[in-house]
Amino acid sequence: MQIKDKEFELFLSEQEIQSTIQRLAQQINQEYRGKEVIFVGVMNGAFMFVADLLRNIDFECEVSFVKLASYEGVQTSGTVHELIGLVNDLYEKHVIILEDIVDTGLTLDKVFSMIDADAPSSLEVACLLYKPTAFKGKHAPKFVGIEIPDHFVVGYGLDYMEYGRNTKDIYKLK
Ligand code: IMP
Ligand code: MG
Repeated sequence: MQIKDKEFELFLSEQEIQSTIQRLAQQINQEYRGKEVIFVGVMNGAFMFVADLLRNIDFECEVSFVKLASYEGVQTSGTVHELIGLVNDLYEKHVIILEDIVDTGLTLDKVFSMIDADAPSSLEVACLLYKPTAFKGKHAPKFVGIEIPDHFVVGYGLDYMEYGRNTKDIYKLK
């Protein structure tokens, strides 16, 4: 598959992705049923993961999304330091951050510390993909779908230069 100037090949099939998500949902259902839970998806990449995971969550819960802002005035600072979009009250709730992929983990550290400031009862992370060899963050994801090598991947929400998010499978750079 071609996206812009790069060639990608199939890496994870729709079926592998969906069965992974069902397993994650089962774990979360068992651990969180009966608690006051809010899922917080990190835009843009997590939109498909959130939609499919939540269809397999069988208890009453809230779902919201955040986006990270990386601006300092009109210039991109290169570091993320603001959460936009989260209006829900997180105080004494069990928060599960939903990420498409955890790579270095630096984005996650930011989201984590900003949400933690709202004093939730608990705060954990569920991600579809995790690159353990690239990880250098403080908060490792508790619920991990698939551990992958340090490949660049696209599809199922993940982008290359904002393109390629709209596929059912995941592809890796050839
Ligand atoms: P971090 O390095 O863990 O902070 O990852 C930050 C963000 O980079 C992720 O949320 C993704 O949006 C993006 N990212 C990391 N690895 C990949 C990849 O292999 N393909 C596409 N996006 C990626
Ligand atoms: Mg992302």
